[in-house]
Amino acid sequence: MNWKIKASLQKFLSLSKLGDQLNHLPVTFNKEYHRNVFLYQTLECLRKFSHTNLNLRDDDSTALEIGTGYSVLSAVVLVLLGFKKVITVDVTKDLRFSTFKKQLAYIETSSFLEEILSKSIYDEDQIRKMIFKIKECNSLESLFNSFNIVYIAPYSFDDIEGQSSSFDYISSQVVLEHIKPEILSMLFKKTKRWLKEDGFCVHTVNFIDHFANPGFFQDKSISEFNFLKYSNKFWSFWSGNSIAYTNRLSYVYYLQLAEKCDLKVVDFIGENYRERIELDLNSIHDDVLNNYISIPVKEDLVKFQRGTFVFKV
Ligand SMILES: C[S@@+](CC[C@H](N)C(=O)[O-])C[C@H]1O[C@@H](n2cnc3c(N)ncnc32)[C@H](O)[C@@H]1O
Repeated sequence: MNWKIKASLQKFLSLSKLGDQLNHLPVTFNKEYHRNVFLYQTLECLRKFSHTNLNLRDDDSTALEIGTGYSVLSAVVLVLLGFKKVITVDVTKDLRFSTFKKQLAYIETSSFLEEILSKSIYDEDQIRKMIFKIKECNSLESLFNSFNIVYIAPYSFDDIEGQSSSFDYISSQVVLEHIKPEILSMLFKKTKRWLKEDGFCVHTVNFIDHFANPGFFQDKSISEFNFLKYSNKFWSFWSGNSIAYTNRLSYVYYLQLAEKCDLKVVDFIGENYRERIELDLNSIHDDVLNNYISIPVKEDLVKFQRGTFVFKV
């Protein structure tokens, strides 16, 4: 289906307060939805954390998650790993306790327990007691109060600093590509200030054109980097709204920004996780190149579909 059909629907939905939730609705019809969310959120959270060598035995170990989305599972995993306080923030408030309950049904699967035990500061008995307590919670508020989770949505940087301005761990999962460059720049500057000396910041970013994502509305005819062909004005017309916005930035931009903000790049893991439809590099619009801090080489803009950045101060 032509990507402009989905783009038009998203533009229309973004005019309504419920637009974001309506846009999310179709994926929840899959009968494996809650199981898939559980597997994806828990595995991705543990994968990102495995890039650190944090010692969570300190009494004040604090984590910040940028972009909670529709699932509080990564905050719960961070608690089970040993963080004493977890702050999770988003621009929209999308958490539902009923959804969390359905996803919780998978928390005692042996593969998850094995994974968490291999990385947590707690032993099996302690983890099982924590899981029992999580299952006893009858609302998101009771979950948050019992485990020192702070959910702020919508949030500002001042709201975060009202809770803490010193973090052992700052992370996000497929969120940064939805953030405008000016805000990204503020986030990276704050990260430089907020991260403890031995702290880690781990972000996983999806660099591709989201109109090429699988699903009912997928445009199978376009390259996964199709959006690089368009001017800023054209792209903003089609996807400048609150639901569809993506910044079209490749891994190179985040590395440039880290350098500008004096963050150390401990590692960058680039991935190509899906079939490639090569984009003609000559079709990349000059606006796309000019969005960079310094002009990148075109080959780099289509090199990776997804990537994980590990930063330190
Ligand atoms: C693709 S979702 C990912 C959500 C979640 N991390 C996950 O893995 O399911 C992108 C999320 O980023 C959030 N977002 C967009 N701009 C943001 C910003 N400036 N700060 C924090 N979150 C933001 C959106 O509201 C949305 O929940």
